[in-house]
Amino acid sequence: MKIIQVYSTLNLYLILFVALLAIILPPSKSEQTDPNFTCQNVSKAFKKNKLVEYDNAKKCIESFPFDAKLAGDVIDAVSHFMSNYYVFLNQAKEEPPKGFTYKPVDLIKELESLRKETFKSDYDFVTALRNIISKLKDGNTQYFNLCYQNFIYDQNLTLYSVITTDNENKKKQIIKVFDDKLDPSNNDCEVSEIDGKPALQTIIDFANDNIAHSKDLGVRFNMALAPSIGTFSQLFTLRKDLPETSKVTYNLKCLEKSYTLTRKWSVAFSNIAFENFCFDLRNNSQK
Ligand SMILES: *[C@@H]1O[C@H](CO)[C@@H](O)[C@H](O)[C@H]1NC(C)=O
Ligand SMILES: *[C@@H]1O[C@H](CO)[C@@H](O)[C@H](O)[C@H]1NC(C)=O
Ligand SMILES: *[C@@H]1O[C@H](CO)[C@@H](O)[C@H](O)[C@H]1NC(C)=O
Ligand SMILES: *[C@@H]1O[C@H](CO)[C@@H](O)[C@H](O)[C@H]1NC(C)=O
Repeated sequence: MKIIQVYSTLNLYLILFVALLAIILPPSKSEQTDPNFTCQNVSKAFKKNKLVEYDNAKKCIESFPFDAKLAGDVIDAVSHFMSNYYVFLNQAKEEPPKGFTYKPVDLIKELESLRKETFKSDYDFVTALRNIISKLKDGNTQYFNLCYQNFIYDQNLTLYSVITTDNENKKKQIIKVFDDKLDPSNNDCEVSEIDGKPALQTIIDFANDNIAHSKDLGVRFNMALAPSIGTFSQLFTLRKDLPETSKVTYNLKCLEKSYTLTRKWSVAFSNIAFENFCFDLRNNSQK
């Protein structure tokens, strides 16, 4: 048990260390993509304590230019830390036990390969780096970036999964609406498709690709759905990473009707780090 404790503490250091790095080395600015300009609307919303438009958040987040020097420094720091202190570095290269869906990862090699790439933005670089760390599927080891993970994206609804029997008396697993805060008449409707793909598979894919908290896909699947296990839940409909699109569509089969629900992401600030660390928004909003 001692070993586990030490290991968790070291990983906490990783998080803190990388967070510090983000403070010491803020993304550099160029004139073409000027976050001072692109983040104006975000800044205004922040001052008024209002929700942010998805498009404004996306534009702002993606406007910090890629800086190869900064990226190199971050790769150095993360590689150094992981090769010296990550207890499971070698184990991570092994094939997972039967029944697990995660993939082996040669962390240092993958981090090195990032050096050869150029990215559209600093955010794209950070996302690529985060994706590599996420492959570990280790709840204690994640890479956070204080600038880009400063928003909460909320669908204002939760989903759940049940086993039912279909017309031919076959058991099947389906996804349903648990609690729609904006339109409770959707509660308990079956979700047949999400963004045009079968709903169940969409949640499984999301749990596989976007959730890194556990090596067990079953655990990750539950984490994607309605709250039943505390804070690490509802991750499909309440996110901290910029979703790819501004809205999600759900094909719903309700008792009385079937229809397509289109729900925009509500984007709120999760804390004040954005103002403190990314750049000085106060000065900008006085312009
Ligand atoms: C953005 O604003 C800050 C504070 O006003 C200033 O120091 C910085 O030079 C500005 N950046 C650009 C690219 O204009
Ligand atoms: C800010 O929002 C306004 C109104 O929606 C829009 O016209 C403008 O282009 C936005 N500015 C930036 C920099 O995104
Ligand atoms: C919808 O989500 C946003 C962002 O989390 C939140 O501010 C708002 O209060 C929610 N609306 C309802 C009705 O819960
Ligand atoms: C922002 O404005 C404050 C006072 O208005 C000033 O002290 C500070 O140096 C400014 N920051 C930048 C980055 O220009």
